[in-house]
Amino acid sequence: MPVVESKFDPKDMEFRRLGPAGLKVSVLSLGGWLTYGGTQKGSIVKDCMQAAWDQGINFFDTAERYADGECELEMGQAFKELKWPRDEYVLTTKVFFGTSRKEPNTRGLSKKHIVEGLKSSLARLEHSYVDVVFAHRHDPDVPMKEIVEAFTQTINMNLAYYWGTSEWSAEQIQEACDIAEKYNLIAPIVEQPQYNAFHRERFEKEYAPLYKKYQYGTTIWSPLDSGMLTGKYNDGIPDDSRFANNKDFFKSKIEELKSEEGQSKIAKVKELTKIAEKIGGTTTQLALAWAAKNPNVSSVILGATKVEQVVDNCGAIKLLPKLTPEVMEEIEKVLANKP
Ligand SMILES: NC(=O)c1ccc[n+]([C@@H]2O[C@H](COP(=O)([O-])OP(=O)(O)OC[C@H]3O[C@@H](n4cnc5c(N)ncnc54)[C@H](OP(=O)(O)O)[C@@H]3O)[C@@H](O)[C@H]2O)c1
Repeated sequence: MPVVESKFDPKDMEFRRLGPAGLKVSVLSLGGWLTYGGTQKGSIVKDCMQAAWDQGINFFDTAERYADGECELEMGQAFKELKWPRDEYVLTTKVFFGTSRKEPNTRGLSKKHIVEGLKSSLARLEHSYVDVVFAHRHDPDVPMKEIVEAFTQTINMNLAYYWGTSEWSAEQIQEACDIAEKYNLIAPIVEQPQYNAFHRERFEKEYAPLYKKYQYGTTIWSPLDSGMLTGKYNDGIPDDSRFANNKDFFKSKIEELKSEEGQSKIAKVKELTKIAEKIGGTTTQLALAWAAKNPNVSSVILGATKVEQVVDNCGAIKLLPKLTPEVMEEIEKVLANKP
C-alpha cells in the first residue's frame, strides 16, 4: 500500500476523546440535518465540508432520516470528491427513523433494521464503515437485549467501530449498559442529545450520573437552537432562514417568537450579544463556545447552510479561553435557567 499523504491540518482546533473511547473528535463538528440534501444540494455541500475541514474539523454527522437518505447521498458524493484519507476523519450516521418508506421493517431498532438500515446508509455514503452508528431514538417495541445484540453485531461485522444513543433517557442508556455487561455484548459509548443555552435540563442533570459512571460521551445537536442563538430571529423571520424554509416543522417555534416566552428568549439573546462584544466575539460564537465549555460535551455539532456560517461558527474556538469563570457567571445571570 502506498504511503498516505496527510490532508488534514488541525489548526487551532481542540480534540476530545469520544467518551470512554480512544477515538478523538474535534470539539466542533458538522452535521447535515435539514441542510445537505434538503435545502442545500450539489457543490455547496462539498464547500461547507471543505470549509469545516480547513478549520480543523475532523468529524461529520448524518442520519438515514435526513432528507430521506438524500443527506447521506450528498455527503457521500462530497467525500468522494474531497478524497480525504479515510483514517483522517470520523463519520457517524444514525438508524431508527428509516427513510420515508412505510414497510414495518424499514424503520425502528429491530436487529433486521439496525443491520439492514446501516448497510443502506453505507451504500448511500459509499463507505464501507462509519466510526459510530447511533440509535436515533429508543424503540419501546424491541427488547433491549435485541438492540444491544444488533449494535454489537454491526461492530463485529466491521460496519462501525462504536455505537451510541440519541435522545434516550438516562434510564434507557443504563439498561443498555447493564445488558451489555451481563451478556458480554458491546455497550454504547456516546449520546447525541439536544443541548444549547435554552435547552439544558436533560444534558446537565439527567445524564450527570452517566458521565461519572461511564465517562459517557456526547455529540450535542442544535447548539444554536436552530439559529435562535445567532440573533437572526430577533426582529422577525428572515427570508431563506431555517424557520422560513421549514414553516410546518418549526410551527411551534415560530409561534413562540410572538409569545412572552419567545420575547424573553430574544431579550436574553440581546444581552448575550453585549457579553460577546465585550470579549471580542459574536453572539453565535459565544453560544457555541458556551456549549463547548462544558467538559461533558465531546463535540458540538454545527449546522450550516453557507460556507460563511461554517467559518463564523468556528471562531468559537478562539472565544473558549475567554470564557473565564467571571464571564460564565455573567452568562448564567442572563440565562437564569440553570437546571
Ligand atoms: N440526533 C438528533 O436527533 C439530531 C437532531 C437535530 C440535529 N442533529 C445533528 O446536529 C447537527 C446540528 O444541529 P442544527 O443544524 O439544528 O444546529 P444549529 O446550530 O442549532 O442550527 C444550524 C442552523 O442555524 C443557522 N446558522 C448556523 N450558523 C449561523 C450563523 N453563523 N449565522 C446565521 N445563521 C446560522 C443555519 O440555518 P439557516 O441558514 O437555514 O437559517 C443552520 O443550518 C445537525 O446537522 C445534525 O447532524 C441531530
